[in-house]
Amino acid sequence: MTVKIYIPRDAAAIALGAEKVAAAMAEAIAVRGLDAMIVRNGSRGMHWLEPLVEVETAEGRVAYGPVKARDVASLLDAGFTSGGAHPLCLGKTEELPFLRNQTRLTFARCGVIDPLSLDDYRAHGGLRGLKKAVSLAPAAIVAEVTESGLRGRGGAGFPTGIKWKTVLETQGSQKYIVCNADEGDSGTFADRMIMEGDPFVLIEGMAIAGIATGATKGYVYTRSEYPHAIAAVSAAIEVARAAGVLGSSVLGSAHAFDMEVRTGAGAYVCGEETSLLNSLEGKRGLVRAKPPLPAHKGLFDRPTVINNVISLASVPVILDKGAAYYRDFGMGRSRGTIPIQIAGNVKHAGLYETAFGLTLGEIVDEIGGGTASGRPVKAVQVGGPLGAYFPRALFDTPFDYEAFAAKDGLIGHAGIVVFDDTADMLKQARFAMEFCAIESCGKCTPCRIGSTRGVEVADKIAAGIEPEKNRELLADLCNTMKFGSLCALGGFTPYPVVSAMTHFPEDFSPAPVAEAAE
Ligand SMILES: Cc1cc2nc3c(=O)[nH]c(=O)nc-3n(C[C@H](O)[C@H](O)[C@H](O)COP(=O)(O)O)c2cc1C
Ligand code: SF4
Repeated sequence: MTVKIYIPRDAAAIALGAEKVAAAMAEAIAVRGLDAMIVRNGSRGMHWLEPLVEVETAEGRVAYGPVKARDVASLLDAGFTSGGAHPLCLGKTEELPFLRNQTRLTFARCGVIDPLSLDDYRAHGGLRGLKKAVSLAPAAIVAEVTESGLRGRGGAGFPTGIKWKTVLETQGSQKYIVCNADEGDSGTFADRMIMEGDPFVLIEGMAIAGIATGATKGYVYTRSEYPHAIAAVSAAIEVARAAGVLGSSVLGSAHAFDMEVRTGAGAYVCGEETSLLNSLEGKRGLVRAKPPLPAHKGLFDRPTVINNVISLASVPVILDKGAAYYRDFGMGRSRGTIPIQIAGNVKHAGLYETAFGLTLGEIVDEIGGGTASGRPVKAVQVGGPLGAYFPRALFDTPFDYEAFAAKDGLIGHAGIVVFDDTADMLKQARFAMEFCAIESCGKCTPCRIGSTRGVEVADKIAAGIEPEKNRELLADLCNTMKFGSLCALGGFTPYPVVSAMTHFPEDFSPAPVAEAAE
């Protein structure tokens, strides 16, 4: 029987040499005349083990990693094709603790299947949600998504069902589904991983959203820095269209839905939904004032659903298994699962999908394994560049929208960036202001001017110039930005700054000028 060898085509694995491994493996298979085939799968999300190569055996898939091209010969010599022992052998993939302890609902197929094989997708439960959706009335689909408790995974955590209901109930000759795949947050890669590893689940989720709201056209808006994701989703759209999953009659139903990928240049603010719409329309990525809401007047002034990749990719399993199944996971008002992306100075960086409710400490110390440097963890930034820095003292905070908000933080797109005790939090605060100054769309003054003044004030504190007065000034500036900015770029930049000042005051008290000069 032909042996199946899995080598990821995920961008993280490619960055770590997966293409070379695949080429070396293909050559070795040919030279040795082995009856084996290579499947280019997505990533399992254990980035410290990439490229993670797997082989299918009678007992299940066996993992080896991290594999370099130069390891291929010794792997084959050691009987790799039947799961043979080798220093790089990690055992059965499904039994690796990092994977075994996850609850993979959205990422169930990522890393398992050939991302561009619709047969593989179907064989692993794909399209069941869409089949269910075409048999339901639009309002019933919306009710199912509402009851599941799904909240937007892009950052704001807005209930997805309510957004869909608004679009369903708004009149429009044309409606749109826009997938926000800009993924600009630092330390995040869930959108990219699902687009590269299981693009059909996003297509299925968008088609369900279309049927639920009466939208017949969808756009995936992503950034040019994501070439592998763009290629994977574009190719999957072609396959889905040819198979009648997309087109004038979705799965043979009376519903039409088609979609395409659009690429932006990679401005952080173009992830903000109204700025994204402008960019999609071919205009400059300037934030629009709300109202009108995109659900009423969105893309080309038509009713539009804008959802994050993970929000949309979570919908097929909700339709397939029911709202109650999904809602049963999680805590409080944070229902279902969340793909946590662990990055920065951490031993086990990667993607970990789990029900809401783990504490930050469990995620960083146990799942992430502490810092890669081996030094103590000093701070963890949760929720991208606009997220707060959490000190160890807040490690008992459960991963839950409300619990994080109660501690002046946010979950955002669930990216976690770990810093060890060498981090200088004044520098991080300055960086937050500088990032805002660079990425500001320029429409409103608190953000456009405030962020530049923020950099200057941080520099004065660092130089020991009137530190007390300048700390007060920085806090005051943050207050103005928080309450005076039009969108969350200017409005949330104070979170990393204020959290750094609150939890790490020692970093904001450098030696006064006179002392420093001595
Ligand atoms: C500056 C800024 C950047 C944002 N970037 C993203 C992004 O990259 N991806 C995303 O899904 N949402 C991003 N958002 C949130 C979106 O505005 C919007 O809330 C989201 O796309 C809605 O989808 P959801 O309800 O599924 O989360 C950003 C918001 C702001 C203010
Ligand atoms: S807060 Fe910044 S990014 Fe947002 S609208 Fe104002 S200037 Fe633009």
